[in-house]
Amino acid sequence: MDLWSVLNTRRSVRSFSPRPVSSEAIERALEAARAAPSANNIQPWKFIVVRSASSRLRIAELSAGQMFIAEAPVVIVCCVRRYRDEYSWLQERMCLVDGSIAFTHLILAARAEGLGTCWIGAFSHDELKRHLGVPGDYDILALTPLGFPKDENAFRPVVDRKPFEDVVFLDHFGGEME
Ligand SMILES: Cc1cc2nc3c(=O)[nH]c(=O)nc-3n(C[C@H](O)[C@H](O)[C@H](O)COP(=O)(O)O)c2cc1C
Repeated sequence: MDLWSVLNTRRSVRSFSPRPVSSEAIERALEAARAAPSANNIQPWKFIVVRSASSRLRIAELSAGQMFIAEAPVVIVCCVRRYRDEYSWLQERMCLVDGSIAFTHLILAARAEGLGTCWIGAFSHDELKRHLGVPGDYDILALTPLGFPKDENAFRPVVDRKPFEDVVFLDHFGGEME
């Protein structure tokens, strides 16, 4: 798939088929994440691949009860280590930028494999950390179910976005593009 097709048909998938996902496809998605840029190349991320059915169920419960998460045969959890970047106003939040880039790589690579994902940001952070044995200096940035969509129209093109002219300015904030 070319990049534009991936970008334009990556949608949040919230219903999954039980069809298994190969280890090779999961590894390719993780390799895409590993290739992501990060500030000072610190690569503060760790990814937990959860295949255990009982663990996926618990993760879904701890994610505001979004039970579709457990329907997918795999859940991937992105953890980031908090570090301080003295050159940026983001400081210890820089790891959130790094992790978000890497997780986006993973999600786009999954789409190229024909796999559905849904970025999950709603979860009980501390309880999920305990459940997964995540050490104290790491935060959980996000997680995603990973699997083949049940609905064959899951990868419908992106149309529900704000108009171009509402989000792109020329020369200064509010400047109209020609
Ligand atoms: C930071 C972040 C957190 C999100 N959290 C959730 C979530 O907890 N549950 C959910 O179903 N979708 C979640 N989403 C998915 C968004 O709702 C979705 O990306 C958005 O509505 C656009 O739809 P699309 O992904 O199909 O293009 C989240 C997305 C982002 C980027």
